[in-house]
Amino acid sequence: MIDRRQFFKTAGIGTLGIMASTVLLQNSTFASNHRTSVTDSGFVPDLDIALAAMPGEIPLFRGRPTQVWRFKGKVLKGDPNRLVEIPGSYLGPIIKADTGDKVRIRLSNHLPDETIVHWHGLHVPADMDGHPRHVIPGGGSYLYEFLVKNRAGSYWYHPHPHGRTGYQVYGGLAGLFLVSDEEEKAAGLPAGEFDVPVVLQDRLFDGENQLIYSAGNPMASMNGMLGDRILVNGIPDFTLPVSTCAYRLRLLNGSNSRIYRLAWDDNRPLVVIGTDGGLLPQAIQRRYVFLSPGERIELYADFSDYQVGRESSLVSLPFDFGGMGNGPTGRGMMGGGTYGGNLPNGAGFTVLKIKAIRQARKNRPLPARLSRIDRLDPIDAKNFSYPRRFDLVMGHMRWTINGRTFQMHAVAEDETVRLGSLEVWEFNNRGGGMGMMGMMQQPHPIHLHGKQFQVLERRGVAHSGYVDEGWKDTVLLMPGERIRILVPFEDYPGLYLYHCHNLEHEDMGMMRNYSIRA
Ligand code: C2O
Ligand code: CU
Ligand code: CU
Repeated sequence: MIDRRQFFKTAGIGTLGIMASTVLLQNSTFASNHRTSVTDSGFVPDLDIALAAMPGEIPLFRGRPTQVWRFKGKVLKGDPNRLVEIPGSYLGPIIKADTGDKVRIRLSNHLPDETIVHWHGLHVPADMDGHPRHVIPGGGSYLYEFLVKNRAGSYWYHPHPHGRTGYQVYGGLAGLFLVSDEEEKAAGLPAGEFDVPVVLQDRLFDGENQLIYSAGNPMASMNGMLGDRILVNGIPDFTLPVSTCAYRLRLLNGSNSRIYRLAWDDNRPLVVIGTDGGLLPQAIQRRYVFLSPGERIELYADFSDYQVGRESSLVSLPFDFGGMGNGPTGRGMMGGGTYGGNLPNGAGFTVLKIKAIRQARKNRPLPARLSRIDRLDPIDAKNFSYPRRFDLVMGHMRWTINGRTFQMHAVAEDETVRLGSLEVWEFNNRGGGMGMMGMMQQPHPIHLHGKQFQVLERRGVAHSGYVDEGWKDTVLLMPGERIRILVPFEDYPGLYLYHCHNLEHEDMGMMRNYSIRA
């Protein structure tokens, strides 16, 4: 049995980091992959970026800096403000693009491991999607060129090498990819310093401030990797200093397997203005909202009634999903101990603090209309009466989809769709029944690559707090729940992934290819 290993101590920090920055400055050493030629593609980018994955270190706590893996970026062509570093964070630079932009990203791998980057939520050709079959070795590079077709929204990027995604994201490799468009600009939401990214992650640290990744442990791979420290934008014990006015908060759950049940501690409702695929038509209110790994939510947070000095918190409320050893009552059993530190999935905690530090002179009111979304009509789906069905089940101590696990190139007949079609897909979280360790009930956040979809219906619902409105690319299914989604398979043929976004479930094989045939 493998447990509590400290991989990040062995990463070979200093030298690789220095080498990598030299590479970035020269921007000429992109030389080892099948997609290397920059000259003959005919692609003229609006934005041309070098993105390097490399080891590094960052001071997170008093004492020793924490060794991480991280993305560093540099704009080679285009507006240099399209890459935004978050100060003091290991997170990758925020990439900003407009709908209609042509983007080139030259990924170079300076890790002692193979990798590939996936643009989570972006609608791009199959070769540009960061499928694990496209991994590049340490020293290798990959050239991405795509048109940004998505509507305005908060997308993100992270590595996707098979079996190593959880480890690499945990090490620090992740960043936001924000898309803007005319409709969004016209909505009149808080902008500039009032538009704030909030990336939620949890991590486990040893006494030397180093990351501990223990997903090799069988129980941890059942629950996923959980940490007992909450980081916001890569920073522990995060406080957001605010002016007394309204903010747009873009929340991403970038955790490996932790689910947040978000609420304000002063019982004000959450004002939700956007989901994975951009702005909602209008704001909706929720007492609390579930945010599972991979999902995004945008909030309109109005602090105009605050006095300077006032503090409040965004919290994660406790919840119970029925799994043994999970939830607030399961501490010390399977969900506790070393597997989630003292914070199993379902425990309650503070996510971040808000502190009013400045009187604002003006305020942006909540726009009555945010965007336009055409609802897809299930009648147009060619398989309306016979949805494609995917059962999420435990098989031989592994999470599976329809009893299958990931194979690099395999795609079944029932995983093949026609280009240009609209389909209903049904996902069913059936759990594992009585396993040798009791009820194997786990939530599964299900994600489709390359597409945004709409939720048609959700059944067997034991919880509220879902935001199924708007465009989505990741949906949470609690044990016993069944969801139907409407997916338009437009523009791009090829091989894409669908999987559970609990990264340890994914790495264990709870992932499959689907194929879009022309
Ligand atoms: Cu963010 Cu295949 O995932
Ligand atoms: Cu994705
Ligand atoms: Cu899962």
